[in-house]
Amino acid sequence: MRHVNTLGGLLARQRMDAGWSQEELADRSGVSVRTVRNIETGAVESPRNSSLSLVVAAFQAAGHFEAEYVLRDFTDRNGIESSAAPSGRSAGGSTPNGVRSGDDHDRLMGRKNDISRMCDGLHRDRWTTLVGPGGVGKTKLALAVADRLRSQFAGGVFVLPLGETSEDHDEKAVWRTVCEALPIEGSPGDGSAAMRRLVVIDNIEHLQTSAVRACQRLLADFPDLWILITSRHAVAAAGVKTVEVRPLSVVDAEQLFLHRAQAACSDLDLTGRGSAVTEICRKLDGLPFALEVAALRLRSLSIDTLLEAPVRQIVAQPSVAGLPHQRTLVESVTWSYGMLGEEQRRLLHWLSAFPEAFTIKDLLGRPDRDTVADDFPHLVDIVSDLIDRSMLQVCRGSEYRYSMLGHIREVIGSLQ
Ligand SMILES: Nc1ncnc2c1ncn2[C@@H]1O[C@H](COP(=O)(O)OP(=O)(O)OP(=O)(O)O)[C@@H](O)[C@H]1O
Ligand SMILES: [Mg+2]
Repeated sequence: MRHVNTLGGLLARQRMDAGWSQEELADRSGVSVRTVRNIETGAVESPRNSSLSLVVAAFQAAGHFEAEYVLRDFTDRNGIESSAAPSGRSAGGSTPNGVRSGDDHDRLMGRKNDISRMCDGLHRDRWTTLVGPGGVGKTKLALAVADRLRSQFAGGVFVLPLGETSEDHDEKAVWRTVCEALPIEGSPGDGSAAMRRLVVIDNIEHLQTSAVRACQRLLADFPDLWILITSRHAVAAAGVKTVEVRPLSVVDAEQLFLHRAQAACSDLDLTGRGSAVTEICRKLDGLPFALEVAALRLRSLSIDTLLEAPVRQIVAQPSVAGLPHQRTLVESVTWSYGMLGEEQRRLLHWLSAFPEAFTIKDLLGRPDRDTVADDFPHLVDIVSDLIDRSMLQVCRGSEYRYSMLGHIREVIGSLQ
């Protein structure tokens, strides 16, 4: 093995040893040719964890274990995190770009019903959107589904993260980004199962209209393409199947919390602390990101101290996050809040002071409601919009009940 002391040099060497062109590596890994080129030339010295993971996984999937080992070893020694899929798992895009590191090492807790419902649905629906609040597990679920369905997309599964794409991107700019990242040049396929491809587009909430148009164009131009999107904001376009990603059930939340606690602090003994674990999971609304952060905190604080701490204090702790707005849950909520208009913010502040779940009738009965909206229909419109943006949760019975997740309530309460 030759000694190469830059990541780019190492990657180029391993790629050539595998007999692959840059295009082929891009194709196999699901990252763009430009990314491969930038890493190899040194234009990008510290690529995103997720891009690196995809590249490593491509070597792994093709049985080039030396390349996998060498790249991993290099990234470990140089403090670059690469969370490649464990051996034996297929590559080619299942690893998330822009996803919090550690994702691939961690089992997906719960979500069995969601996965089977989506796998069934994806046979029919060419466009599915996973919608839910930040940190609820949309990306994790989308990738698990994509992984499960890989064999049905013989043309490949590709992951396109748009979380870092600027909000100012218009339709053309988004389309360019899509074209650069996805291997969609050439003549469209015939839509047969032999050709089918799945594209997971992660985080489009800040691009809404332009990303939606790009997706519509993709579907129209490429009949062999299926799209799975993650967004905090529901997509209002015909033919889109929306799947709401809800917080985990208490049982699944406990499993996740205990798993992460064990990983963070292997000698911590929570035997006999079942009710405290249940309580913390309820306190954090079963939100996976919050549970992960709280479990990490167990290294320095006891579970009783965590139970006494305000939710806002717990969720202000950073995780090993990918994007700036995913570093802490406070930043995550603040990012969503930043995308709201003045009226929506006012209503959200008003609602954050409500103690529990509420109905439309409850709003109607509030004497101070004209302080947040001119008239009642207007008020209802704003509530609907906040639901579409995952800032409120809805429970659909004969009468709908609305609520705000505890951490959102606390963060909103702390914002001006
Ligand atoms: N079912 C699950 N089992 C195990 N871990 C999970 C699960 N769901 C989510 N996680 C973990 O919780 C964290 C947040 O999940 P994820 O990044 O998928 O959220 P998201 O909804 O996509 O958030 P955002 O809106 O910020 O993109 C990640 O570290 C992820 O690995
Ligand atoms: Mg996500």
